[in-house]
Parts: sequence; C-alpha cells; structure tokens
Amino acid sequence: MQKIVIEGGRPLKGEVEISGSKNSALPILFASLLGNTSVSLKNIPHLRDIDTTLRLLEKLGAKIKKGFRFSSLEVSANGLRHLEAPYDLVRTMRASVLVMGPLLAKYERARVSLPGGCAIGARPINLHLKAFEQMGAKISIEGGYVEAKAKHLQGARINFETVTVTGTENVMMAATLAKGETVLENAAREPEVIDLANFLNKMGAKVYGAGTDTIIIDGVDELKGAEHTVIPDRIEMGTFMMAAALTGGSVLIKNADLTFLEALRVKLEETGAKISQNTQGLRIEGPKTLKAIDIITAPFPGFATDFQAQFMAMMAVAHGTSVITETIFENRFMHAQELVRMGADIKIEGKTAVVKGVKKLSGAPVMASDLRASAALILAGLVAEGLTEVHRIYHIDRGYENIEKKFRKLGARIKRAKVKY
Ligand code: EPZ
Repeated sequence: MQKIVIEGGRPLKGEVEISGSKNSALPILFASLLGNTSVSLKNIPHLRDIDTTLRLLEKLGAKIKKGFRFSSLEVSANGLRHLEAPYDLVRTMRASVLVMGPLLAKYERARVSLPGGCAIGARPINLHLKAFEQMGAKISIEGGYVEAKAKHLQGARINFETVTVTGTENVMMAATLAKGETVLENAAREPEVIDLANFLNKMGAKVYGAGTDTIIIDGVDELKGAEHTVIPDRIEMGTFMMAAALTGGSVLIKNADLTFLEALRVKLEETGAKISQNTQGLRIEGPKTLKAIDIITAPFPGFATDFQAQFMAMMAVAHGTSVITETIFENRFMHAQELVRMGADIKIEGKTAVVKGVKKLSGAPVMASDLRASAALILAGLVAEGLTEVHRIYHIDRGYENIEKKFRKLGARIKRAKVKY
C-alpha cells in the first residue's frame, strides 16, 4: 500500500502539461470493438482505469499493441469470441459497462457483470438497459450479470429521464450499427461525448448533434478502424486551476484552453483568481485570500460534479461561508469529514454542504474514498500547516497520471511513500 505525503505552505509556480482525458479514452477504447480493422490512438493517459480497460479488451480477445512509453495504442478487435465482462474487472471500474453497446451492436450478445454500488452513490445502469430494450434487445439479470441479446438492434427514439454520460455513450455506440435512425433526447453534452462521436464518425459512423441534448445516429452496415488523438483531460485541467488558486500561486497550464471550462472559470474568478488564456495555454493566479462563494453541480455545461470535492477544499480556507450543493450523486461528500479532520468547518445537510472558511488547515493523516475526493485531500495538504498523509491513493491513480510528479514540478513538497504497517 502507498500513501502520498505533502508538506503544505508553498504557492504553486511554473508550468504543467495535462494528460489525455480518462473519460474520453475509456469510451473510445470500447468503441474500437465496433471496427472491422484496427484503430490507433494517441494521448491515452497511463492510468489504472486504462490498464483495467485494456485487460478487459484482451479478455474479450482483442489484440493490443502499446507504443513506446504508452505514446500510442493500437487495438485490433475483430472476430471476438468471448463476449463477457467479468465481475472481477467490472467491480473495479464501473465504466466497463461501456462494453455492452459495442458487443450488442456487433455480436448481438453481451454478458456484463452488474457494477454494484460505488462510494459516491448507487449509480444504477437502468437507463442504459431500458434504451437497449427500446432498440429490441432482450435483457435478463441473473447471478449478478446482465445477459443481453439482440437479433440486429433497431433504431429508436430514446428520451433519457436523467442526463447520463456513459448512458449516452453506450447507446450512441450501439446505434452506429443498428437498423435505421436512433434519436437520443436529453443526451449528455460533455466534451467527452463529442470526442467519442468524432471518433465514431472517423470509423464511418453517422452521428450528428453530439454536444447538444439531441443526438441523431443513422445506422450503417459496418465500421472500420481509424486514427484518433484523445482530447486533454478537462477535469485534470480544472484540478490544477483550483490548486493554483488555492495556494495563491501562478501556474501556466500548457495544452489547455477555456472552451470546456467556462462554468469553473466564472466561479474561480468570483473567488478572486485571475485567469488568462494565451497561445501557450491557461494562466491562473491565485489571490492572497479566496472569497467564499456558492456552487451547485449540474450536467455539462454546468459546474461539473467532478470539480466539487476540489472546490470544497478551496472553500475550507476561503473568507466567508460557502454553500455547496451536489445534485448529481447522492453521496459525494465523503471528503468533507476528512477535511474536518484537518480543521475545516463543514456541516452536511442532505445534498448541501455549508463550509465556513477557517484561517488555516492543519496537516493530518487522511483517507481517500474516491477519485476526486483524493484530489481534494491533496489540494488541502498543499495549503495545510505541517504534514498531510493521504492514504488509499489507488483511488487517485485511477484518474491522474503522475500527479505527485506534476505537483513537485510546480514547487510542492510532495512524495509517494510506502505505508509501513
Ligand atoms: C460519468 O459517470 C463520469 N465517468 C463520472 O466521472 C462523472 O462524475 C459522471 O459522468 C457525471 O458527470 C465516466 O465518464 C467514465 P452518469 P456516469 O450516468 O456516466 C444516474 C470520474 O471522476 N443514473 O452521468 O456513471 C446516476 O446514478 C467519474 O472520472 C441513473 O440513475 O454518470 C447519477 O446520479 C466519477 N441510471 C446520474 O444519473 C442510469 O442508468 C448521472 O450519472 C445511469 C445514471
């Protein structure tokens, strides 16, 4: 087991390069199952969730070729015989459910373990399954597995009662090879949905309207391989923006732009941070003291739920009181108790957290509970007085590539260490 140890108190200064987007690379890797020839991908981040996905693709019979230091990936996945996503893989990464759309569309069959609960909420996949049934799939649940069969999926009009990112992606992939037209209403508008649609269209699919709440897919007979470079990770970008603002530093985030960060930019400027965009990237300068402001999470283009934990770490030492409302997941405040152990003043009332800014946080041993909560605890450690030890950092390695190296390069005193006992 490993931990990350941080000695707080140094403003971040310098430049950081953002890795490829985890939440774009995952659906795109599963979409490679749809092609009759191999796909070649660039800017895939080297993360635990990517390794899990590659293991699952190989289990299904796909052949994976990795370029030098993960610089490129080639996936050939034609003529698969084994169409099952097993529990031991799905339980470690719920996004494995994205295998279902491609397998149903191409092989008319899929057997996928139900993901089960997750730290931040129940996170059911009922909307994915309901959509597949509307497209003619026969779905049954037995022994914790979803058995799905479909003699050639049919296009359908699907209205998602809740905006679901992977639900939109799963059904979009299935619809590329379905018979006729599929219309997705109340679709997710996240940039990662757009990146997936662009990749599918390079493979010969006909996907229109990605990035809006209505996506139309005209089914085609087959898809071929394609080349694609995955977009940078906007959640990592935002995490470094908040770290710069929180530590009162000045950081240039290279290969970054504000296109997909408008909601966060507005809120960070309200706290007093200065944000400018130039040809080199995004520059963020943190104020002496942060102003406390309220946020409410929402689907894109609203304030992303994946920024909520990191923002709470900022508000813990802001001047004033901040009200944080989490509308997407029912249990995404577990970082709050850990911040309280560092001296934060946070009261949880249902979907709302009331954060009264304190003068300073004190370093302490804390426990990560999920991916973005781990990032929030690292940010808190960067400003806390003394040493903070973040435990269970396998959560952070799921979604951030070399995070402690990137922070060290910005002047933070941070290192990875073995947990003795
Ligand atoms: C995606 O998860 C992201 N993961 C999450 O990022 C992100 O937090 C989330 O979208 C919201 O933006 C990936 O893209 C791999 P949802 P997803 O389906 O698709 C409910 C991270 O940190 N719902 O948009 O699983 C669900 O319970 C991760 O990288 C149903 O009720 O989220 C939730 O309350 C964490 N039934 C809401 O919709 C369904 O069938 C939004 O979930 C599907 C979803």
